[in-house]
This record gives sequence, structure tokens and C-alpha cells, in this order.
Amino acid sequence: MKKYIVAIVGATGLVGREFIKVLEQRNFPMASVHLFASDRSAGKKLFVGHREVEVKETSHSSFNHIDIALFSAGSETSRYFSPIAAQKGTVVIDNSAAFRMEPKVPLVVPEVNPQDIKEHQGIIANPNCSTIQMVVALYPLHKVNPIKRIVVTTYQSVSGTGAAAMEELTTQTKLVLEGQSVVPHVYPHQIAFNLLPEIDVFLDNGYTKEEWKMAEETQKIMHAPDIAISATCVRVPVFIGHSESINVEFTRPMTPEEARRILVYAPGVKVLDDPSVSLYPQPWSVAGSDDVFVGRIRADASRPNGLVMWVVADNLRKGAAVNAVQIAEEAIRRGWL
Ligand code: A2P
Repeated sequence: MKKYIVAIVGATGLVGREFIKVLEQRNFPMASVHLFASDRSAGKKLFVGHREVEVKETSHSSFNHIDIALFSAGSETSRYFSPIAAQKGTVVIDNSAAFRMEPKVPLVVPEVNPQDIKEHQGIIANPNCSTIQMVVALYPLHKVNPIKRIVVTTYQSVSGTGAAAMEELTTQTKLVLEGQSVVPHVYPHQIAFNLLPEIDVFLDNGYTKEEWKMAEETQKIMHAPDIAISATCVRVPVFIGHSESINVEFTRPMTPEEARRILVYAPGVKVLDDPSVSLYPQPWSVAGSDDVFVGRIRADASRPNGLVMWVVADNLRKGAAVNAVQIAEEAIRRGWL
């Protein structure tokens, strides 16, 4: 089997480190791996398996002879370096928002639209973490009974913001418990013991960019521009794992039993749904897993064709690194690299 030369850009970050773990855990066919970050990390060493690999500053020459580059170093870095890499023949799988809505860039969740990978011109976008887990749970239902409308509220962990935000939650929690005052750095307000209904910037229409991304990306991935979507995204003081309360309206009625039956066999989905023993997905218990967990499936008492459900996934794994590596695996398997 052919082995590939892989680069990770943003290797020192939360998702970057997860890329390293996921590539190893999934036994990805790698000839070698090259780690890149900013100049601040140049010379640092990270373990890849039992071997230490030196981190280099990302530069134009980083992509000579690289087959696949996994990017998670922010939109600005992606916007600058991804086209350079693609021009050198590297296939970029980009975790930032930089190219997601560009018509010529496939935006892929392998359980939903693997066929879109074929259209890539060197860059494939990995969707937003909250979008990924929502479409993995909803697409199997949509195929049976087309969705007309989605109203979703997210409860997103601080790891979605990055390493600095995880540190901020730890520090603030200690300070609050010690009765000391808190000065926020990463978020506009204290995140410890608090909730912030603000993720990414506010748009003129009153939504945040994160909320808008969930709507646009879902329509693009599911090839369903007519689904009406309204999202409210909330940052919560949880370290890992995004949770979503999803209210979905179908074309025809769908019972909770039918939805459960479909989801039990859906790829990448695990149903955890038994209210009699308080069984439902929680961020604490799904952290470290690669599946999307669904529970609290019930009829929407306010709409005849509606269902309500609770969907939780590890945002660093299925919401980022696992999905990106699955895209690479799918591209290899189908001969579309
Ligand atoms: P560095 O550690 O050198 O700053 P997180 O989202 O967890 O904060 O991680 C962000 C990742 O993006 C880190 O690996 C960070 O590297 C990397 N990064 C940030 N800015 C750049 C840049 N200009 N070029 C390359 N990598 C960058």
C-alpha cells in the first residue's frame, strides 16, 4: 500500500496535537510526518509515536514534496499558505473557515457527502465543529424524510477556541473559587461559572458568524439550500465536547421510534437514549470518542412534523481532527487524492 508524506500546520495547537494522535490511532498510511507552526514554536519537539519530531516555522518551502497537509492554524495562515501548498501539488485539508463557502472548494463530512471530494482542486475544507456533529445526526433522517427547518442551540466547550481558552477557564475557575477577581483575556467576559451567547463576531443581521456558518455550511454539505436554519451558539464552561439541542421539522411526520431505528444504523452515530435510567449523551462522557451521540429524541409538542433531540460530540475529534483524517482516508480509498 502506498504511504503518504503528511504535514501538519498548527501542530502545536489543540487540533494539531489531535491530528498527530488520530493519524497514529487510525494507522494512517504515512511515510513521514512534518510538523509546522509559527516561529514561536520553531525548534520545539513533539512526540509522534515514540519518535520526537522537530516543529518548524511554516514557510513557502514547507510544502515541497508533501502529499497531504492538514491545516489548523487559523484562517489567516490557511488563506496564505493553503494555495501555496496546493500549487506545489499538496492536497490541503483545511480546518479553518477560510475556504468553506467557496463554490470550488468541497466542504466534506464523509458520512454525508464523500462524493464531493472528487471535485477538489487542491483544497478540501473541514466544516465547523458544531456543523459536523449536527449533519452526521440529521442527514440519515433527511434522506428518509426531507428536512424543512432546523432550530438549533449549541453549548460549545472552550477547547473550540484553542489552548489559550482552556487555560483561561482553568485559571478563572481557581480564582473564582478563591474569591479573587477575574480579568478576561480570551473572551469578552468571564467564562468560569458563566455562559456567553457570543461565538465569533456579530453580523449586521444580529446573528454571530458561528451561527451563520452553521446554517450555510449545513445547506452546502447536505446539498439542501432550501432548509431553513436558525442557530444560537453559546460558549459554556466545559473543556471538551459540544452539545446541541436540535429542533427539526420534516416534510412528513416522523415518530421518535422511527428516528431511533434509523439512527441506530447510521454511520458515525451512537444512540444513547433511555430517560428511565437518565441515559443521554454528555460532553464529559463522550470526550475522547469519535462518534456523534444522540439522545432525548422526542416528538416536538409544538409542530406536527417535528422532532427534538440532544446531540453531543468531541469537538476536537469528530468536530475537527477525526473528520479531517477521514476525508484524507476517503480520498485515498476512492483514488481522488
Ligand atoms: P504556535 O504554537 O507556534 O503559536 P490553538 O488553536 O490551540 O491556539 O493553536 C493554534 C495553532 O496555530 C498553533 O499550533 C499555532 O502555533 C499555529 N499558528 C498560529 N499562528 C500561526 C502562523 N502565523 N503560522 C503558522 N502557524 C500558526
